Amino acid sequence: MSEVLKLVRENIQKLTPYSSARHEFKGNADVFLDANENPFETGLNRYPDPLQNTLKIKLSGIKKTDPSTLFLGNGSDEAIDLLIRVFCEPKEDHIMIVPPTYGMYKVCADISDVDVRQVKLLTDFQLDVDGILKESDQHSKILFICSPNNPTGNLMAKEDLERLLQDFPGILVIDEAYIDFCPDSSMVSKLSEYPKLVVLQTLSKAWGMAAIRLGIAIASPEIITLLNAVKPPYNINKLTQQQALSFLDKEDEMQDFVRRSVEQRVKLSREMSGLNYVLIVYPSDANFLLVKMKDPSFIFHSLIDQGIVVRDRSRQPLCEGCLRITVGTDKENDFLIETLKSLQ
Ligand SMILES: Cc1ncc(COP(=O)(O)O)c(C=O)c1O
Repeated sequence: MSEVLKLVRENIQKLTPYSSARHEFKGNADVFLDANENPFETGLNRYPDPLQNTLKIKLSGIKKTDPSTLFLGNGSDEAIDLLIRVFCEPKEDHIMIVPPTYGMYKVCADISDVDVRQVKLLTDFQLDVDGILKESDQHSKILFICSPNNPTGNLMAKEDLERLLQDFPGILVIDEAYIDFCPDSSMVSKLSEYPKLVVLQTLSKAWGMAAIRLGIAIASPEIITLLNAVKPPYNINKLTQQQALSFLDKEDEMQDFVRRSVEQRVKLSREMSGLNYVLIVYPSDANFLLVKMKDPSFIFHSLIDQGIVVRDRSRQPLCEGCLRITVGTDKENDFLIETLKSLQ
């Protein structure tokens, strides 16, 4: 049994996945009377491709990986949920997270009645590798790490990720939701070396497609097969597949979004550093800034009074006094800065 399969829940190892009508049929046909669809043409009367093959071929070119290493989910949130359901036995196994981090890892574990072990980041927001390894055991089925991290904005050190890839006993999920803002730092190139690595990416951020809900898990074909076995049969609808295919032709446009966001992030960071109540604007590799200030609650509510919503992260570990502010359009950022200046 492979290293990965040993980590899989017994019921999933034994699972006979649902087999959809369209999936079973491999030949050519003109008349489809196999899936109880409405035969009258609406453009949407047929079920979509359950394995999204055309979209995966397109994405594999962009991500420089084989289509068999791609799983597509209804947002990366679906992949997070399915990974927990594949590997973690409720009440027996646990996931590990490294707060402050993205909130859905714990929510998905809680929903599945899977325990969560937490090892805080160090004060420089890097990984406490020794602490993580000390806390882990044979029931530590998944370690979720976000890089660049939400809400702190920093990339995790590659040497630390590699050490964990070598020594952590379970699956290491590296959530790269913000990687398009710093593409050279992706861990996708390490997939062939580490069978227990899963990289999550999404079209919701730099690609500007949050509304269509399309997340990507990139991993060994063995892990992708497991995710496909537990997913709902038609988890990516046809409209999403079509929209993604046409947006993915516009990689230049995405690069332009990234360039403009990074330019604006630098400007926002500079402007906010000059405010008398701002203590630290943390460096960021993503499309948001974590900002430590004297009275975050007052600033948060004063911004709301002016119709500006940011995220209060001041109750997160290591984020006392911090608001997380997404980089907006030039005009939105100018209004934000003007409002923040008026609160001095
Ligand atoms: C780190 C991280 N992972 C995943 C997600 C969710 O992405 P998706 O829209 O693909 O579900 C987010 C959204 O904010 C995020 O910050």
